Amino acid sequence: MSDIKKIKDEYLNKLDKDQNIESINQIKTELFGKNGIVSNEFKKLGSVSQEERKKFASDLNFIKEELQNKITSKIEEIETKEINLKLENEKVDVTLPERDFKQGKIHPVSQVIDEISSIFSEIGFSVEEGPDVENEYNNFTALNTPDNHPARDMHDTFYLDEKKELLLRTHTSPVQVRTMLKGKPPFKIIAPGRTYRSDSDQTHAPMFHQVEGLHIDKDINMGHLKGCLNYFIKEFFEVDKLKMRFRPSHFPFTEPSAEVDIGYEIKDGKIIIGEGDKWLEILGCGMVHPNVLKNVNVDPSKFQGYAFGIGIDRLGMLKYGINDLRAFFETDYRWLSHFGFDPLDVPSSYRGLSR
Ligand code: PHE
Repeated sequence: MSDIKKIKDEYLNKLDKDQNIESINQIKTELFGKNGIVSNEFKKLGSVSQEERKKFASDLNFIKEELQNKITSKIEEIETKEINLKLENEKVDVTLPERDFKQGKIHPVSQVIDEISSIFSEIGFSVEEGPDVENEYNNFTALNTPDNHPARDMHDTFYLDEKKELLLRTHTSPVQVRTMLKGKPPFKIIAPGRTYRSDSDQTHAPMFHQVEGLHIDKDINMGHLKGCLNYFIKEFFEVDKLKMRFRPSHFPFTEPSAEVDIGYEIKDGKIIIGEGDKWLEILGCGMVHPNVLKNVNVDPSKFQGYAFGIGIDRLGMLKYGINDLRAFFETDYRWLSHFGFDPLDVPSSYRGLSR
């Protein structure tokens, strides 16, 4: 018994001096592990005589408890010390100048795409997407624009291979083809996205944006097209009155085809949409050509409808008074902070969320 008292004193002493959690844990195993000193003492209990056993057991338990308590309090003590030391070293210096904070802005094109999508979604259009790299078939042939058709030259296409099978889409109309090939009529979609033509001046950039519209059902006619565009333009420009005119035009994939102009005037250097006697072209449209419907396995004797293609950048320039299209894509941070939109500020025309 005196043996074990000695061990106890020795270890209490060791623990007192020790300042390291790892070595304390080691002591713990030394004492209470499978072959630990205290554990081995307990094993001796069986061989102790009846009279001595009770006392030995109670002494042993007492010593065990004392050592265990010491270990626990020692670990706590060291941990608290460590935390305090950390807190001491990590004091926040409130006198430091704050870090420069730059909030990002929404690019006008993204803003306009969001506005367009929310306006059309209110009248039942869903949004489709297609890839920027298209094949020749979807971009031209399926759209009733065969090889050698003059419209192909007019598009100033960027081809990606010598065989001219892959290209950067020249308009969003191939999304009409993709949508109809993968589904069954009726179709009522818009498809905003990037488009490419080899062209560059103040109002043309080699990459620009369009939004395609397509509505195919059993009895969709030009009246529906007119009503839909009239509604869209009024909502987009937030005007009640709108002067709009349909001018006969030609697209291989629509018959009849039209271009749409809206009336405007310039007052105090600002463009006012919907008034005045000047006209501005903003989109191409028409009734989808029966050949296009046949190419995408839609029966033109049962289904018909309209399509339109609007220049998105143009719309943004008009609505937000931006006069050089090329600045849209120069990634000049100063330009973006001026013309960009606050991501947390929802403008009134962003109806989808506010109504
Ligand atoms: N894709 C045509 C263009 O880029 C616009 C258009 C779309 C015309 C749909 C008619 C129908 O000029």
